[in-house]
Amino acid sequence: MFTIGIDIGGTKIAAGLVAEDGSLHRPTRVATSPSSDAIVAAVVHLVHELSADAEVSAVGVAAAGFVDHEAGTISSPNIAWRDEPLRERVQSEIDLPMVLENDANAAGWAEYRFGAGRDVRNMVMLTMGTGIGGAVVSDGVLHRGATGMGAELGHVRFERGGLLCGCGQRGCIEQYASGRALQRVANDLADAGGIGVMLAERRARDGEIAGHAISELALAGDRGALEAVRSVSAALGEACGSFHAILEPQRYVIGGGVAALGELVLSPLREAFLVHSPMHQKPVDDMFQIAQLVNDAGVIGAGDLARAETS
Ligand code: BGC
Ligand code: NA
Ligand code: ZN
Repeated sequence: MFTIGIDIGGTKIAAGLVAEDGSLHRPTRVATSPSSDAIVAAVVHLVHELSADAEVSAVGVAAAGFVDHEAGTISSPNIAWRDEPLRERVQSEIDLPMVLENDANAAGWAEYRFGAGRDVRNMVMLTMGTGIGGAVVSDGVLHRGATGMGAELGHVRFERGGLLCGCGQRGCIEQYASGRALQRVANDLADAGGIGVMLAERRARDGEIAGHAISELALAGDRGALEAVRSVSAALGEACGSFHAILEPQRYVIGGGVAALGELVLSPLREAFLVHSPMHQKPVDDMFQIAQLVNDAGVIGAGDLARAETS
């Protein structure tokens, strides 16, 4: 028996059938407009399509934002959702039971069950994408807090009175260590000049340099791009020092688009953690790891959580 996992991102929706062992079948991706109606229609269509000729018991939908687990609503800093009744809107058009979950919670759960955290009981996941997503697994249990907005680690304050965030607060770590922060830092560095010849050339030629281009330049060894990657990764490592005082996981799993840079992210992150963790705790060797399920984590986690909650 399968479940359906669906992961709603900023520009596309990923979906598939998830088996009990975490394997993903018939993975599908569709582009979507950011309008709520279009998203709901696309999700409903995917459910009908995937359940047409497979035995399916439940649907898990993961989306980027603060999820109220009971109410089935979502409010998002980076998508135009304010108390959007997403679960009700989809549920009323499908016959299968459905659960709504925060995207990072779903991805973190998948990594914990089947990926980079499967050998530990206490794990934190951080996704470096448009925003910063967080998931906390504590002694094998996914932490949701009272209503479901617990583990919104991207909105923990990093700088007092700092940059304005989409959540309405200032100084959230999301503004210093996300994919979007990488873009801001890299473009600022290019404007300031001095380092990163390729970065400066790209800026002069294309205007705003996109995230994937910054990653490419970093891999090509451009000093400016490398410095931008170092800066956001170090910010995240510093934040992990604070998270450690609360959570003390055995493993931090780093996901999202920026994490594709691997050691370029992990090494400044580890170094900053060592400097900024209480009592300067040394990170053990395998404490920081890159996510293993990469683009499929949200779908797999949503499907697996739907199975757990509806059985
Ligand atoms: C949102 C989270 C989400 C994360 C990654 C943040 O801005 O607040 O709910 O998990 O972005 O998509
Ligand atoms: Na979360
Ligand atoms: Zn915020």
